[in-house]
Amino acid sequence: MEFDQSGCDVAGIAYPVYCFGLPNIVTNFVQKVQFATGTYLFGLASYRGLLISSGRRLKKLLQARGYTMHESA
Ligand SMILES: Cc1cc2nc3c(=O)[nH]c(=O)nc-3n(C[C@H](O)[C@H](O)[C@H](O)COP(=O)(O)O)c2cc1C
Repeated sequence: MEFDQSGCDVAGIAYPVYCFGLPNIVTNFVQKVQFATGTYLFGLASYRGLLISSGRRLKKLLQARGYTMHESA
């Protein structure tokens, strides 16, 4: 499958902050990607000054899919 990352023990989702949130392409990816149970997931944002709630948004999207994001920076 195109978004199958089930072979990973650790996976990071790196993204630019857009409008205090996530770019659509990142949201679409998170809604499709498959991780193995227990994969250590982290988020890594690049931004220009206003990070606000993008990490929380990513965490919630992953939670809705049954995944836990362990760290966000
Ligand atoms: C449409 C758009 C919306 C953006 N919104 C935000 C924002 O809400 N907060 C912020 O800190 N940076 C924002 N940025 C800046 C990007 O996060 C930044 O360009 C990206 O992380 C890449 O960093 P660089 O431009 O220094 O290479 C936005 C950029 C674009 C193009």
